[in-house]
Amino acid sequence: MSPIRSYTSEGASPLSFLREASTLYRYRRQASELARQSVEDIRCREALINEHLGLLLRDLDILEIGPGQFQAHMKYLALKNRVVGIDLDVIAESVAPLAYLKMLRTNGPLRTAKTLGRKLLGIDREFASELRRQIGIQRLPRPKVIQMDACQMSFPDESFDFVYARSVFHHLPDPGAALDGILRVLRPGGTAYVLLHLYTSETGCLDPRIYTDRRNEVEGWPHLQPQLSSTLNNQNTYLNKLRLHQWRSLFDSKMPGAKYLMTAADPATFELAKTLQSKGELLDYALEELTTNDFAVLWRKPAHSAESQTNRMCRSAANS
Ligand SMILES: C[S@@+](CC[C@H](N)C(=O)[O-])C[C@H]1O[C@@H](n2cnc3c(N)ncnc32)[C@H](O)[C@@H]1O
Repeated sequence: MSPIRSYTSEGASPLSFLREASTLYRYRRQASELARQSVEDIRCREALINEHLGLLLRDLDILEIGPGQFQAHMKYLALKNRVVGIDLDVIAESVAPLAYLKMLRTNGPLRTAKTLGRKLLGIDREFASELRRQIGIQRLPRPKVIQMDACQMSFPDESFDFVYARSVFHHLPDPGAALDGILRVLRPGGTAYVLLHLYTSETGCLDPRIYTDRRNEVEGWPHLQPQLSSTLNNQNTYLNKLRLHQWRSLFDSKMPGAKYLMTAADPATFELAKTLQSKGELLDYALEELTTNDFAVLWRKPAHSAESQTNRMCRSAANS
């Protein structure tokens, strides 16, 4: 088993501490808006899952992979379902010192300092308060988050009705192993929803400034243009760099019949991509992969595998 360490545990240099502190400071003013967007986002995904798979997210056993520090979607889903989360990072809900010691030991000083900073600046408190307001409840559920690697899940076979992973797969070194895990832990007829951000998109570098009011400091596709790579601030983010066609073939091979929903970039991004290509930049990339932001996969596991169908036929023949 590989040691449990997430990409946020890497790169704990004085510079990365400074960068994280500056991002946190800016996040402080945006906590409420981020909470509002999170609720809007999960409601939109809930509607899409219902529209495309006819599934109502009610009374289900749900696994969320990588719920992250705020766990907004997991808490929302836990209002009407039994939900468990797994994350490589230790998630500290309270200020209990033991949780921080565990975080320090397993996820390193950068992750721990960032989490403590969030709590001290009141970011978590403000986020939770806006989440409650948006959902219209007094108390948020506190579903369990287990520290576990998505590529090495240890749940028993067929434990869940629904597996949800948002903005996690592009961070996995071996997404195929995580998909095998999902196939295994889903019950027959169960459903998976995986949404990932495309590395080749305009913001595929995931420079943290993109999520703050410094968004305009990050040029389009800096990670795909060697002359701009020094302008990037994402040294402690692991990205697997899979291209659109590679994701499609991976999901086709593991989840045949899956539906793909792509979120296209806005018209200005299309124009920028075309302009850069006309100047000889980004020519190794198709316009479609440069202008697709998110790639969502919806899949229903067959109700019964071919093998169990045969077994069932044999059993019923023997019984008749
Ligand atoms: C970008 S955050 C997404 C958080 C949340 N799902 C959201 O959409 O806001 C990615 C999360 O995935 C977790 N993660 C990364 N690699 C993982 C792995 N191999 N197994 C489980 N979680 C992982 C990270 O620790 C982080 O919490």
